[in-house]
Amino acid sequence: MIKVAIIIGSTRPGRNGEAVARWVRDLAIKRGDAEFELVDLKDFDLPLLDEVLPASMGRYDLPHTRAWAAKIASFDAYVFVTPEYNHSTSGALKNAIDFLYGEWHNKAAGFVGYGVNGGARAVEHLRLIMGELQVADVRAQVGLSLFSDFENFSVFEPAAHHEDAVGTMLDQVIAWGGALRTLRERQAPVE
Ligand SMILES: Cc1cc2nc3c(=O)[nH]c(=O)nc-3n(C[C@H](O)[C@H](O)[C@H](O)COP(=O)(O)O)c2cc1C
Repeated sequence: MIKVAIIIGSTRPGRNGEAVARWVRDLAIKRGDAEFELVDLKDFDLPLLDEVLPASMGRYDLPHTRAWAAKIASFDAYVFVTPEYNHSTSGALKNAIDFLYGEWHNKAAGFVGYGVNGGARAVEHLRLIMGELQVADVRAQVGLSLFSDFENFSVFEPAAHHEDAVGTMLDQVIAWGGALRTLRERQAPVE
């Protein structure tokens, strides 16, 4: 079975992202066709990017980078749970993505966005970033509304129909994640 990380893309105190990510994880683990793990950016306590060399050089000098790299390298696919901040993803998630390079390559990704318009603009920005990192991002995405899926913009109460959207997104992530694992096993990574 492939391993899928569900990455909490907000580090803000009082964040909505944690409840969203736990909901995705709870739906995912019922499937039984992949392994799922919550990955919380807060646990890695990454500063603003402080490696001297760009990640594309493949040398990480700092312990926090090495710990983050080992975690991300251990997965075949990712579900990014992203808030929308000023029509993009969070600075914390972009920073965490920028810390690494080869660990992302030839993997699959799906998105769960939340915000006024389902986090759609945050997800579109992430799709551009995924292209540079050779991550195959699936078409299906989940868009949660601050107005109709949260009470008082802070208590997560998702509409039932989103469960189908999570299922479709995970179907695609697992299919592509498995295909790309085969590719990685057969080929050296494309630089
Ligand atoms: C700095 C900032 C900018 C925001 N900008 C947007 C935005 O452009 N579009 C949107 O839909 N929501 C925006 N929001 C609302 C967030 O989507 C909402 O607060 C969400 O709960 C943030 O995720 P978090 O609670 O997990 O940190 C913004 C919130 C913050 C804190």
